[in-house]
Amino acid sequence: MNSLLSISDLSADQIKQLVDKAIALKAEIKNKGGHDKLPLKNKSMAMIFDKSSLRTRLSFEIGMTQLGGHAVYLAPDDIKLGKRETVHDTAKVISSMADIIIARVTSHEDVSDLARYSTVPVINAMTDVEHPCQVLADLMTIYEKFGTLTGLKLAYLGDADANVIYSIALAAEILNLELAIAAPKGYEMAPAARKQAPSVKHYNDPAKAVKGAHVVITDTWVSMGKEAESQERLKKLMPFQVTTDLMAKADPKAIFLHCLPAYRGKEMTTEVIDGPQSAAFEEAENRLHMQKAVVLELLT
Ligand code: CP
Ligand code: NVA
Repeated sequence: MNSLLSISDLSADQIKQLVDKAIALKAEIKNKGGHDKLPLKNKSMAMIFDKSSLRTRLSFEIGMTQLGGHAVYLAPDDIKLGKRETVHDTAKVISSMADIIIARVTSHEDVSDLARYSTVPVINAMTDVEHPCQVLADLMTIYEKFGTLTGLKLAYLGDADANVIYSIALAAEILNLELAIAAPKGYEMAPAARKQAPSVKHYNDPAKAVKGAHVVITDTWVSMGKEAESQERLKKLMPFQVTTDLMAKADPKAIFLHCLPAYRGKEMTTEVIDGPQSAAFEEAENRLHMQKAVVLELLT
């Protein structure tokens, strides 16, 4: 593992090892309040963001501190990736000083270019087509709840033409997990993504997708950059809202996941995200533990 640009950079075994490592790191923090060893002493992370973030920034930055390293946040206006100077020059300069780069950029090509020209590892912190760190944290949460990553059915409702569900679909393919997606016309998974995840089942009826599911997942209906389409999206996607009635059609032990930020009354009801089946906030916390596992894998 040299960089993490796509969840498909990982094998099933590597994913399982990362989940085990993240669970062990989480236990150290919970039981002892910190780590005995600081393996990232003298290591620095450059964090490039051209979009907003709460969880991703916080988890990488705190994760570096907890492991003895340091992270530098570069805001959209600080470096203007690809505009103020070439991605090539940016990658060369950053990798002459930092030990690892994380990047949240709109275009997946920009993150691939950063990795191509950088001499240090690059982690995709979300592009228009993937959010691998999110999905690793989701898998960790699923493992914590069910004790396994096999024999489970995942169901995803809502905007299926978006980064998080693309990474979930690739992960389902790698781990041989059943995945059913329900999305309205116009918001279905793009043909290129379907080709990469041929086992995924696609429905227009949310009840069919969630039937017997162990994990019910959704994402915001208005991804960053799509704000101008808000009204139309809300109208078309409303029948795909995750409700308690819909959760009742899933497995009785089903959990609800959402990468956050969440919009109550839109992609899910308040009862669902704040209810007993919701693991959305543990999922958010797991970003910290999982990304520490990823950074350690890349740097030590
Ligand atoms: N889920 C997630 O990536 O959250 P942020 O956009 O707040 O980083
Ligand atoms: N699909 C969402 C995920 C946010 C973490 C977005 O791209 O805005």
